[in-house]
Amino acid sequence: MNAHDSEKVIGTLEHEGYLRVADEADAGLILYNTCSIRDKAEQKVFHRLNEYKKLQGEGKRFAVLGCVAQQEGERIFERAPYVSLVSGSASYRNLPEMLVRLEAGEQRITGLDDRQTEQTFDTEFTARTNPHHGYITIVEGCDKFCAYCVVPYTRGKERSRASASVLAEARRMVDAGFTEIQLLGQNVNSYQDPSSRMSFAELLAAVGSIPGIRRVRFTTSHPRDFTRDIVEVIDAVPTLCDHVHLPVQSGSTRILAAMNREYTREWYLERISWIKAARREISMTSDIIVGFPGETEAELEETATLLEEVKYDAVFCFKYSPRPNTPAIALADSIPDEEKSRRLQVLLDRQREIQRVSYARHLGKEMEVMVESHNHARGQVVGRSSQNKTVNFTVAQPILPAVGSYQMVRITQTFPNSIAGEALAG
Ligand code: 5AD
Ligand code: SF4
Repeated sequence: MNAHDSEKVIGTLEHEGYLRVADEADAGLILYNTCSIRDKAEQKVFHRLNEYKKLQGEGKRFAVLGCVAQQEGERIFERAPYVSLVSGSASYRNLPEMLVRLEAGEQRITGLDDRQTEQTFDTEFTARTNPHHGYITIVEGCDKFCAYCVVPYTRGKERSRASASVLAEARRMVDAGFTEIQLLGQNVNSYQDPSSRMSFAELLAAVGSIPGIRRVRFTTSHPRDFTRDIVEVIDAVPTLCDHVHLPVQSGSTRILAAMNREYTREWYLERISWIKAARREISMTSDIIVGFPGETEAELEETATLLEEVKYDAVFCFKYSPRPNTPAIALADSIPDEEKSRRLQVLLDRQREIQRVSYARHLGKEMEVMVESHNHARGQVVGRSSQNKTVNFTVAQPILPAVGSYQMVRITQTFPNSIAGEALAG
């Protein structure tokens, strides 16, 4: 979502007549888009801002955008006085006007949003960096208030874009040659069409039915709003990719309650059973937090057994990181960092073993792969399956298939994190 925000900012600025340069040193204005989801991301920001200090020069200006900008606000001017603009994501619409003020010499410009904002950032000026695969934001913000999460405070209230606007953008993208579209939202499946025309599943079907589209993805789904019709529509519409990212965060019902996730282990597993009952094999992935305040060894083990029960194809594991403004900040961050690292490793090891065994199911299968890059050193083509797995494959002919093209591949080898094969002729 952050990467896509940057594409929108770049598109907006290019429309205003700004030019992108390849090297920071050549830029008159540096806009730095930031993330504050975990402490590490935030530390990186201040480290990077320190480096910008060295780049200071005649007329060079600095702007900080995104969640750290929103969270730290004017404190950024104190820590980095050479920064002259600080803006949260719901204020990007005002960037052209803020930049006029910046160019007129104003020193400290802020665009900070309160949680009440109704603004979405639909813009026709999006500078998509990949000409084949592109994002569309359909929901922004979040009203779920998980105890550990900063997003409701940095991205504001949940708001959805009208289905007609989403579909119009998707059609324009397909006309421009995009074949893969990924719908985005912090809780993409909490989508509520402001024009009340379509449910989320209906919107998926509508985007997937645009003539010329090959693949539709959506991320991230929240278990609370995961309805059965999402599985039904994946079964019914072949262009919808067979992959669902459904973060569980913990396998312990007690920890889930402390996290304010508003579901139990059993309730989550019921949604997983719907996905497993689909006619197509749908790949599942998840996010996990280890070391949430008070998490016991037995509760960690519950998460490990959940991994074994679900058999995810990929899991993103994070060490709990206390975030400003969140309810969990009031709880003692009781688990030392080394212990969090150990817990993380326990889950990663268990998950690696699950994937080592389960990826073998692809051996001998044929699947369609979208080409993403060429690995000339290894004479391989790198692509992605509908299930979102990295596929490395060889081709018989000397000319490699073009980036963005689709190729049928037979899988000959599997690894814990990727699969490999050879292109089929024709
Ligand atoms: N500490 C650790 N991980 C977090 N996430 C969100 N907030 C925190 C936090 N405070 C993780 C969740 C979420 C993913 C995007 O980041 O797992 O799904
Ligand atoms: Fe954060 Fe929870 Fe909202 Fe996801 S659902 S963005 S984890 S508050």
